[in-house]
Amino acid sequence: IQEEEKNVEPVIPEWACQRATPFKHFNEQFTEPLEILEKYAELRDQEQDYSRALAFRRASCVLKSLPYKVTNISSLKNIKDIGGHSSRVIKEILEDGYCQEVEDIVNDPWFHKMKLFSSIFGVGPSTAKKWIEKGWNNLQDINIEDLRNDWRVIWGVAFHEELMDSVSRTEADVFAQIVREEAEKILPGVSVVLTGGFRRGKPIGHDVDLLLTHPDVGSEIGLLATLLQRLEEKELILCGNHERSSFSPEVYQRDFKLSMRGQLDHFEKWLGICKFPKTFIEGCSDILTQINVTKKSVIKGSLDDCDEPKTKFRKLSSKALSPVDVFKSKRDWKARRVDLIISPFDQHYYALVGWTGNKHFNRDLRLYSQRVLNMKLTSHGLYDLSKNVTVPASSEKEVFENLNLTFREPSDRNC
Ligand code: GTP
Ligand code: MN
Ligand code: MN
Repeated sequence: IQEEEKNVEPVIPEWACQRATPFKHFNEQFTEPLEILEKYAELRDQEQDYSRALAFRRASCVLKSLPYKVTNISSLKNIKDIGGHSSRVIKEILEDGYCQEVEDIVNDPWFHKMKLFSSIFGVGPSTAKKWIEKGWNNLQDINIEDLRNDWRVIWGVAFHEELMDSVSRTEADVFAQIVREEAEKILPGVSVVLTGGFRRGKPIGHDVDLLLTHPDVGSEIGLLATLLQRLEEKELILCGNHERSSFSPEVYQRDFKLSMRGQLDHFEKWLGICKFPKTFIEGCSDILTQINVTKKSVIKGSLDDCDEPKTKFRKLSSKALSPVDVFKSKRDWKARRVDLIISPFDQHYYALVGWTGNKHFNRDLRLYSQRVLNMKLTSHGLYDLSKNVTVPASSEKEVFENLNLTFREPSDRNC
């Protein structure tokens, strides 16, 4: 429910993790243009652009937390997170209905190409830039020969069109249920949580993020390898990479880079592309029966042209089709991005917060922990730098308690 915009200055907590930021809010008119400016800075990726991108995101994030629609620029003048540049953008939108700087970006062909290329699985801003420098303008210009060394990019390009359409909540739930049933057979008592945007209440997403754990620490070892084999037998896997855990207590305490700019962690995981049978995308209830009848016409893909993922579980046949041929083939499934993450139970609730996100909520939470509490927060845990001890958590609520924060529901972490 929208409240009234008061003439008095709103009291806004300093940190985003101290505020509730819902997915649906009142200020899209401003946050969308601000996030275009953020994206543009992020894609330019020059020295000072990271902090510019952050500044636009902070402004956007605080606007999302306001329980009313902003109609008057003066009510924002003392909000620290809305800097001079963002303030000018908001003012222009209030006065003219649009912001010229944003319009120019939206009409900039470079921005379009960068957005297109960096939306491909496995392609970041630096690769996208190189491609533009080669004179490539669209997907058709991409020369597969030049991509020889990255299996993700090869599959990402071949399946780009399909991976661009959103995953629905129903699809995500159905897939999660399949994984849950398979994992339960391997390791009874296992927990499989749908995290990421769906856990925050988003109706659609770009992938399915599943976090797996088991109350007996150590029993989760080996689970993912077996699970992947089972999913492979069910013809649900297109391609992917199984990464071993690289966690160690030293990493936990010393690797500061981890908690700040990047969101990377050291969990055992599989990031890849799965085959979702069309029958369950269209929505059906009797999932497992459906899966068992889809065996017939699925074609194996080839990774022959790529650098093989370090630890692969799928066997390749020499006469297998190329990714592009697989894409064009007649098939009864759609390609969907999937992340499977394994966390030992003693790290689970920190992992859950980390993999629920969103990214900006995490970044704020980690910065807040360091600056305000002198504690280091990652997806593996919380380390008190003053006392030199790790702080355990046996629920998500306890993670927030340990951080001296009011608990926020996942649906209020959409910064
Ligand atoms: P959509 O998938 O686009 O709907 O949004 P999302 O919020 O689910 O994004 P994404 O799937 O990229 O990531 C889910 C959450 O996991 C986000 O909060 C990310 O910050 C976090 N995340 C993504 N990759 C990693 C990683 O390698 N390590 C850690 N710790 N977190 C990650
Ligand atoms: Mn996601
Ligand atoms: Mn993901």
